[in-house]
This record gives sequence, structure tokens and C-alpha cells, in this order.
Amino acid sequence: MAEMLYEGKAKKVFATENPNEVVIYYKDDATAFNGLKKGTIMDKGIMNNTITTFFFDLLGKNGIPHHQIKKLSERESLCKKVHIIPLEVVTRNIAAGSLAKKMGVEEGYVLKKPIIEFCYKNDDLGDPMINDDYAEAFGIATDAQVQEIKALTLKINDILKKFLAERKIRLVDFKMEFGTDADGKVILADEITPDTARLWDWDTNEKLDKDRFRRDLGNVEEAYHEVIRRLTGK
Ligand code: TMP
Ligand code: ASP
Repeated sequence: MAEMLYEGKAKKVFATENPNEVVIYYKDDATAFNGLKKGTIMDKGIMNNTITTFFFDLLGKNGIPHHQIKKLSERESLCKKVHIIPLEVVTRNIAAGSLAKKMGVEEGYVLKKPIIEFCYKNDDLGDPMINDDYAEAFGIATDAQVQEIKALTLKINDILKKFLAERKIRLVDFKMEFGTDADGKVILADEITPDTARLWDWDTNEKLDKDRFRRDLGNVEEAYHEVIRRLTGK
């Protein structure tokens, strides 16, 4: 049995014989509200491994450096081992969730420009929102890393927004994590899935993401399947 290096809410990370590579295993566990709500989404691990692999392939083809090397099995991917920078980088194109509440607008308000938010990745503190100064002042990331993350984030948002629009999906918002690889280079890590992105049908604004679980809207598995169908045509 390979040594488990880390277990998060949705994934496990295992060591491999290569010190610079890990295997990421996707679970069916679903949580919301910092783990207060718990459940299972059937085959979510299989679907999210497929969806992340799809997005990382697309981003790689567009020049974005990321951690994924290859999908190994239904639930497992081989990835570069990174040192995760403890920032949750949230990009928003349309107001929803916590932003709609904070700013007192209806969900669906189209932002005049994309917003990038940083949260300090710390479950005990509830992932508080911070800014560039906090990131540097607390040694979470250097100025150069923050600038690189922002530049990559805007590029990734453009690539994904355009691609998803062609598949009749609105990229409302999404969360990313970055890490540094063995050479110290900042690369995209973690996952991009309906767990970590709000995806709405272009015509109806029907939610095709984890808000269906968070808000007990039903048809959760169907929504994830629909995302795969639109991405891959299968
Ligand atoms: P929010 O509206 O709750 O701040 O969420 C913004 C986006 O970030 C949404 O697509 C869901 C995603 N997200 C995560 O992936 N993990 C989290 O812990 C939170 C709070 C949000
Ligand atoms: N993933 C986070 C949690 O488990 C929050 C969320 O996605 O809503 O609490």
C-alpha cells in the first residue's frame, strides 16, 4: 500500500516511488459550509477526476502550467508533487453565493469586470478572505508569486469562460489553488470541477454544480453528468 500523505474533504494524496510525483484519489464525499453539511454524491469521484483531467488538458494546451501528468484510473490521477500555497483563489464573472449576499445584489448580476478574491486556506479559521498585503505580510506567498497567480488566473478565466460558453455553460465563479513544483515554479494544482465552480446553463441559468447539493435542489449527480456530456460530447 502506498503511503497516504494527506486526506482532504474530497481527495486523498498518496506517495509514489518518484519523490516528485503523487497519486490523487477522488472520493465521493461531499461537504459544504466548511464541512458542516456532509453527504455523498454517487460517483462524484469518478466524474470529478474526468472533469479535472479535461480542464487541465485544455489549459495545458493553452500554455497554462499545471500539476496533472495523466489520469491513471477512474478515480486516480498522477500529478506533480507541489507545495500548496495556502490560498483559495476565487474568480468571479457573475455575482452568486457569498458575493451576492455581501453586496446585496441578485444572483446573476453580471460583473463589469472579473473579480479575483484570495482566501487564506485554513479550515479552523473558516478560510477568511484576505488580500495581497496579508498574503505577503503573513508569509503565505511572495509578491512575485501573488503577481504570477493573478496573471495565470486571468488567463485561465478567459480560456475557460470562452470554452464553456461554446458549450452553453456560464462560468459564474470558481476556486483554484496553486502550488510550487520541485523547481519552485508556480503551477495550477488541486481540481476544477462542479465542486469548485459555479456552472449555469446558458439559456435557463439552471445550476449544474455543487450548489444543487449545498441548497438541496436535487438532481445533483445528473448535473455533474450533464457537465461531462457538454464537455466531451459523451
Ligand atoms: P462563495 O460564493 O461561497 O464564496 O464561493 C465562490 C466559489 O468558490 C464557488 O464556485 C464555490 C467555490 N468554493 C470552493 O471551491 N470551496 C470553498 O470552500 C468555498 C467557500 C467556495
Ligand atoms: N468545500 C467546502 C466545504 O466543505 C465549502 C463548499 O464547497 O461549499 O465546506
